[in-house]
Amino acid sequence: MAARLVSVAHLLLLLVVLAGSRRVALASETVEQTCAKATSGAGREELAPFCVSSLQAAPGSDGADARGLAAIATNLTLANYTAAVATIKALERRGGWSEQSRAALATCRQRYIEALNVVHSAVHALATGNLRGYVSDMEVVGKAATDCEHAFGGAGSGPLRKVDEDAGNLVVVATLIVRSLQ
Ligand SMILES: *[C@@H]1O[C@H](CO)[C@@H](O)[C@H](O)[C@H]1NC(C)=O
Ligand SMILES: *[C@@H]1O[C@H](CO)[C@@H](O)[C@H](O)[C@H]1NC(C)=O
Repeated sequence: MAARLVSVAHLLLLLVVLAGSRRVALASETVEQTCAKATSGAGREELAPFCVSSLQAAPGSDGADARGLAAIATNLTLANYTAAVATIKALERRGGWSEQSRAALATCRQRYIEALNVVHSAVHALATGNLRGYVSDMEVVGKAATDCEHAFGGAGSGPLRKVDEDAGNLVVVATLIVRSLQ
């Protein structure tokens, strides 16, 4: 009798686990489908894994449609640029830089701070359905990360290489998702 009760409990547990994993599978399929569609439409398939991992880590992405994911990706960009400014300021405070690196860090700080205002404008453009305005804002935003990387000589070896790469990739992913809505 006790054994039977245990097995019924196990069965119920199994059903709960299966139901849960099915829901997760369905939700992540939406993120994966949106990322696949957005990146393949632009020949940027190599960004699909980055798109999926970035969006899946964001709260609210489970079960969000492409429009919701576009807003989430734009918010992630805003958070990323804000974090980039904090990272640059921390590096500047740490000190010990050559004259050249100090100048590059200052350029980067300025570019990222300017870009933050433009990300806000992009958030507004998306919310009001001004997709053309959104795309041109995000071009300016993406250029900040490129300009920063170039300030270090563009050899991909500066202290902000990963920051610039993530920021640039997020901008591209967000823009491609918005383009895929049209
Ligand atoms: C920026 O976004 C990328 C991709 O989601 C993430 O890996 C990285 O940790 C973010 N950087 C910061 C400083 O938040
Ligand atoms: C994006 O951020 C804004 C401001 O913090 C917030 O009101 C909005 O709900 C966020 N949107 C999504 C889809 O996360």
